[in-house]
Amino acid sequence: MLKLVDVVSGYTDVNIIQGVSMEVNKNEIVTIIGPNGSGKSTLMKTIFGLVELRNGRILFDGSDISQLRTDKIVRKGIGYVPQERNVFPSLTVLENLEIGAFIRRDRFKEGLEEVFNIFPELKKKSAQKVGTMSGGEQKMVAVGRALILMPTLLLLDEPSSGLSPKLRDVLFKKIVDINELGTSLMIVEQNARMALSVSRRGYVLEMGKKRFEGEGKSLLANEEVKRLYLGG
Ligand SMILES: Nc1ncnc2c1ncn2[C@@H]1O[C@H](COP(=O)(O)OP(=O)(O)O)[C@@H](O)[C@H]1O
Ligand SMILES: [Mg+2]
Repeated sequence: MLKLVDVVSGYTDVNIIQGVSMEVNKNEIVTIIGPNGSGKSTLMKTIFGLVELRNGRILFDGSDISQLRTDKIVRKGIGYVPQERNVFPSLTVLENLEIGAFIRRDRFKEGLEEVFNIFPELKKKSAQKVGTMSGGEQKMVAVGRALILMPTLLLLDEPSSGLSPKLRDVLFKKIVDINELGTSLMIVEQNARMALSVSRRGYVLEMGKKRFEGEGKSLLANEEVKRLYLGG
Protein backbone atom coordinates (compact mmCIF):
# COMPACT_ATOMS: atom_id res chain seq x y z
CA MET A 1 0.00 0.00 0.00
CA LEU A 2 2.95 2.35 0.70
CA LYS A 3 5.88 2.25 -1.68
CA LEU A 4 9.01 4.40 -1.55
CA VAL A 5 11.11 4.42 -4.71
CA ASP A 6 14.67 5.81 -4.50
CA VAL A 7 13.65 8.51 -2.04
CA VAL A 8 16.11 11.36 -1.51
CA SER A 9 15.32 14.09 1.02
CA GLY A 10 16.85 16.50 3.49
CA TYR A 11 16.63 19.83 5.27
CA THR A 12 19.62 21.85 4.08
CA ASP A 13 21.87 21.33 1.05
CA VAL A 14 22.90 17.93 2.47
CA ASN A 15 20.76 14.94 1.54
CA ILE A 16 19.89 12.99 4.69
CA ILE A 17 17.92 10.22 2.96
CA GLN A 18 20.06 9.00 0.09
CA GLY A 19 17.99 6.85 -2.24
CA VAL A 20 15.83 4.60 -0.10
CA SER A 21 13.27 2.12 -1.45
CA MET A 22 10.91 0.26 0.83
CA GLU A 23 7.31 -0.76 1.19
CA VAL A 24 4.55 -1.49 3.62
CA ASN A 25 1.96 -3.98 2.40
CA LYS A 26 -1.64 -4.18 3.50
CA ASN A 27 -2.04 -5.37 7.11
CA GLU A 28 1.68 -5.45 7.78
CA ILE A 29 3.63 -4.09 10.72
CA VAL A 30 7.01 -2.95 9.38
CA THR A 31 9.79 -1.68 11.66
CA ILE A 32 12.72 0.55 10.77
CA ILE A 33 15.72 0.33 13.05
CA GLY A 34 19.13 1.95 12.91
CA PRO A 35 21.53 4.08 14.93
CA ASN A 36 20.72 7.57 16.15
CA GLY A 37 20.95 10.11 13.38
CA SER A 38 20.60 7.58 10.59
CA GLY A 39 17.55 9.37 9.18
CA LYS A 40 14.65 7.32 10.52
CA SER A 41 12.61 10.31 11.68
CA THR A 42 13.52 12.24 8.53
CA LEU A 43 12.19 9.38 6.41
CA MET A 44 8.85 9.39 8.24
CA LYS A 45 8.57 13.16 7.94
CA THR A 46 9.29 12.86 4.21
CA ILE A 47 6.43 10.39 3.78
CA PHE A 48 4.11 12.74 5.67
CA GLY A 49 5.08 15.75 3.54
CA LEU A 50 7.01 17.55 6.28
CA VAL A 51 10.46 17.29 4.70
CA GLU A 52 11.21 18.14 1.08
CA LEU A 53 11.35 15.16 -1.28
CA ARG A 54 14.19 15.83 -3.72
CA ASN A 55 14.19 12.72 -5.79
CA GLY A 56 12.30 9.48 -6.12
CA ARG A 57 8.62 8.80 -5.58
CA ILE A 58 6.20 7.94 -2.82
CA LEU A 59 3.15 5.91 -3.79
CA PHE A 60 0.16 5.17 -1.58
CA ASP A 61 -2.63 2.84 -2.69
CA GLY A 62 -1.33 3.14 -6.22
CA SER A 63 -1.38 6.94 -6.44
CA ASP A 64 1.61 9.24 -6.33
CA ILE A 65 1.58 11.28 -3.10
CA SER A 66 5.12 12.66 -3.56
CA GLN A 67 4.03 16.25 -4.00
CA LEU A 68 0.96 16.31 -1.78
CA ARG A 69 0.57 18.61 1.20
CA THR A 70 0.30 17.01 4.61
CA ASP A 71 -3.45 17.63 4.97
CA LYS A 72 -4.06 15.87 1.64
CA ILE A 73 -1.90 12.97 2.78
CA VAL A 74 -4.01 12.70 5.95
CA ARG A 75 -7.15 12.62 3.81
CA LYS A 76 -5.67 9.73 1.83
CA GLY A 77 -5.58 7.71 5.05
CA ILE A 78 -2.13 8.11 6.57
CA GLY A 79 -1.68 8.99 10.25
CA TYR A 80 1.56 10.05 11.94
CA VAL A 81 2.71 10.20 15.56
CA PRO A 82 5.92 12.23 15.81
CA GLN A 83 8.76 11.33 18.13
CA GLU A 84 8.18 14.23 20.48
CA ARG A 85 5.93 17.21 21.35
CA ASN A 86 2.89 15.30 20.26
CA VAL A 87 0.21 16.30 22.78
CA PHE A 88 -1.20 19.58 24.08
CA PRO A 89 -0.66 19.29 27.86
CA SER A 90 -3.00 22.14 28.86
CA LEU A 91 -5.92 20.61 26.94
CA THR A 92 -8.06 17.66 28.00
CA VAL A 93 -7.92 14.21 26.46
CA LEU A 94 -11.11 14.88 24.52
CA GLU A 95 -9.83 18.24 23.24
CA ASN A 96 -6.60 16.61 22.08
CA LEU A 97 -8.58 13.98 20.21
CA GLU A 98 -10.82 16.67 18.66
CA ILE A 99 -7.75 18.40 17.28
CA GLY A 100 -6.79 15.14 15.58
CA ALA A 101 -10.07 15.26 13.68
CA PHE A 102 -10.10 18.93 12.76
CA ILE A 103 -9.71 18.38 9.02
CA ARG A 104 -12.48 15.75 8.95
CA ARG A 105 -15.00 16.56 11.67
CA ASP A 106 -17.48 14.22 10.04
CA ARG A 107 -15.27 11.33 11.12
CA PHE A 108 -14.90 12.38 14.75
CA LYS A 109 -17.74 10.44 16.32
CA GLU A 110 -16.93 7.14 14.71
CA GLY A 111 -13.21 7.64 15.22
CA LEU A 112 -13.70 8.43 18.90
CA GLU A 113 -15.50 5.13 19.39
CA GLU A 114 -12.61 3.33 17.75
CA VAL A 115 -10.02 5.13 19.89
CA PHE A 116 -11.93 4.39 23.12
CA ASN A 117 -12.30 0.79 22.00
CA ILE A 118 -8.51 0.46 21.76
CA PHE A 119 -7.73 2.70 24.76
CA PRO A 120 -10.63 2.30 27.24
CA GLU A 121 -8.45 4.01 29.87
CA LEU A 122 -8.74 7.25 27.86
CA LYS A 123 -12.52 7.16 27.94
CA LYS A 124 -12.55 7.25 31.73
CA LYS A 125 -10.14 10.20 31.73
CA SER A 126 -11.52 12.12 28.78
CA ALA A 127 -12.03 15.32 30.81
CA GLN A 128 -8.57 15.22 32.38
CA LYS A 129 -5.84 17.65 31.30
CA VAL A 130 -3.20 15.67 29.43
CA GLY A 131 -0.32 17.43 31.21
CA THR A 132 -1.39 15.82 34.49
CA MET A 133 -1.24 12.28 33.07
CA SER A 134 1.59 9.73 33.11
CA GLY A 135 4.01 9.38 30.21
CA GLY A 136 2.31 6.17 29.11
CA GLU A 137 -1.12 7.78 29.08
CA GLN A 138 0.19 10.78 27.17
CA LYS A 139 1.56 8.40 24.52
CA MET A 140 -1.85 6.80 24.24
CA VAL A 141 -3.39 10.24 23.70
CA ALA A 142 -0.83 10.95 20.98
CA VAL A 143 -1.55 7.65 19.23
CA GLY A 144 -5.29 8.15 19.73
CA ARG A 145 -5.11 11.55 18.11
CA ALA A 146 -3.59 10.02 14.98
CA LEU A 147 -6.10 7.15 15.03
CA ILE A 148 -9.16 9.35 15.27
CA LEU A 149 -9.42 9.67 11.48
CA MET A 150 -9.14 5.89 11.19
CA PRO A 151 -6.05 5.84 8.98
CA THR A 152 -5.30 2.76 6.91
CA LEU A 153 -1.58 3.33 7.52
CA LEU A 154 -0.16 4.64 10.79
CA LEU A 155 3.42 5.93 11.08
CA LEU A 156 4.80 5.74 14.66
CA ASP A 157 8.12 7.39 15.48
CA GLU A 158 9.66 5.89 18.64
CA PRO A 159 6.35 5.05 20.32
CA SER A 160 7.98 3.54 23.41
CA SER A 161 10.54 6.27 24.10
CA GLY A 162 10.48 7.41 27.71
CA LEU A 163 8.23 4.56 28.84
CA SER A 164 8.99 2.04 31.56
CA PRO A 165 9.43 -1.59 30.41
CA LYS A 166 5.97 -2.40 31.72
CA LEU A 167 4.25 0.46 29.88
CA ARG A 168 6.28 -0.36 26.79
CA ASP A 169 4.79 -3.87 26.82
CA VAL A 170 1.31 -2.43 27.21
CA LEU A 171 1.87 -0.07 24.30
CA PHE A 172 3.16 -2.83 22.03
CA LYS A 173 0.06 -4.90 22.81
CA LYS A 174 -2.03 -1.90 21.75
CA ILE A 175 0.00 -1.64 18.55
CA VAL A 176 -0.86 -5.26 17.75
CA ASP A 177 -4.54 -4.52 18.56
CA ILE A 178 -4.51 -1.56 16.17
CA ASN A 179 -3.01 -3.76 13.47
CA GLU A 180 -5.55 -6.51 14.04
CA LEU A 181 -8.36 -3.99 13.57
CA GLY A 182 -7.07 -3.43 10.03
CA THR A 183 -4.46 -0.65 10.17
CA SER A 184 -1.03 -1.20 8.65
CA LEU A 185 1.86 0.24 10.63
CA MET A 186 5.33 1.57 9.99
CA ILE A 187 7.27 1.90 13.24
CA VAL A 188 10.62 3.47 14.04
CA GLU A 189 11.90 2.06 17.30
CA GLN A 190 14.90 2.07 19.62
CA ASN A 191 13.65 -1.09 21.28
CA ALA A 192 14.54 -2.95 18.13
CA ARG A 193 14.03 -6.47 19.47
CA MET A 194 10.60 -5.72 20.79
CA ALA A 195 9.52 -3.98 17.60
CA LEU A 196 10.93 -6.61 15.25
CA SER A 197 9.29 -9.37 17.24
CA VAL A 198 5.81 -7.97 16.46
CA SER A 199 6.71 -7.02 12.87
CA ARG A 200 6.24 -9.03 9.75
CA ARG A 201 9.17 -7.26 8.11
CA GLY A 202 11.89 -4.80 8.95
CA TYR A 203 14.56 -2.53 7.51
CA VAL A 204 17.87 -1.30 8.89
CA LEU A 205 18.73 2.28 7.97
CA GLU A 206 22.24 3.64 8.40
CA MET A 207 23.51 7.03 7.28
CA GLY A 208 20.46 7.55 5.12
CA LYS A 209 20.78 4.25 3.28
CA LYS A 210 19.10 0.88 3.61
CA ARG A 211 21.57 -1.70 4.96
CA PHE A 212 19.40 -4.73 5.62
CA GLU A 213 15.85 -5.83 4.98
CA GLY A 214 13.93 -8.97 5.72
CA GLU A 215 11.29 -10.65 7.82
CA GLY A 216 11.22 -9.52 11.43
CA LYS A 217 12.20 -12.97 12.60
CA SER A 218 15.09 -13.34 10.19
CA LEU A 219 16.53 -9.92 11.09
CA LEU A 220 16.36 -10.91 14.76
CA ALA A 221 18.33 -14.06 13.93
CA ASN A 222 20.85 -12.42 11.57
CA GLU A 223 24.32 -12.49 13.22
CA GLU A 224 25.48 -9.27 11.61
CA VAL A 225 22.29 -7.39 12.46
CA LYS A 226 22.48 -8.71 16.02
CA ARG A 227 26.08 -7.63 16.45
CA LEU A 228 25.73 -4.22 14.82
CA TYR A 229 22.25 -3.09 15.76
CA LEU A 230 20.77 -5.27 18.48
CA GLY A 231 23.58 -5.10 21.01
CA GLY A 232 24.91 -8.63 20.40
N1 LIG B 1 15.35 20.05 11.37
C1 LIG B 1 16.56 19.62 10.95
N2 LIG B 1 17.38 20.45 10.25
C2 LIG B 1 18.59 20.03 9.81
N3 LIG B 1 19.08 18.78 10.02
C3 LIG B 1 18.31 17.93 10.72
C4 LIG B 1 17.02 18.30 11.22
N4 LIG B 1 16.49 17.23 11.86
C5 LIG B 1 17.40 16.24 11.78
N5 LIG B 1 18.49 16.65 11.09
C6 LIG B 1 19.69 15.83 10.79
O1 LIG B 1 19.28 14.72 10.01
C7 LIG B 1 20.02 13.57 10.36
C8 LIG B 1 19.07 12.43 10.65
O2 LIG B 1 18.28 12.76 11.78
P1 LIG B 1 16.99 11.92 12.19
O3 LIG B 1 16.17 11.68 10.99
O4 LIG B 1 16.38 12.61 13.34
O5 LIG B 1 17.66 10.54 12.66
P2 LIG B 1 17.06 9.35 13.55
O6 LIG B 1 15.60 9.56 13.67
O7 LIG B 1 17.43 8.10 12.81
O8 LIG B 1 17.77 9.42 14.87
C9 LIG B 1 20.91 13.95 11.54
O9 LIG B 1 22.20 14.20 11.04
C10 LIG B 1 20.27 15.22 12.05
O10 LIG B 1 21.24 16.07 12.61
MG1 LIG C 1 14.41 9.85 15.31
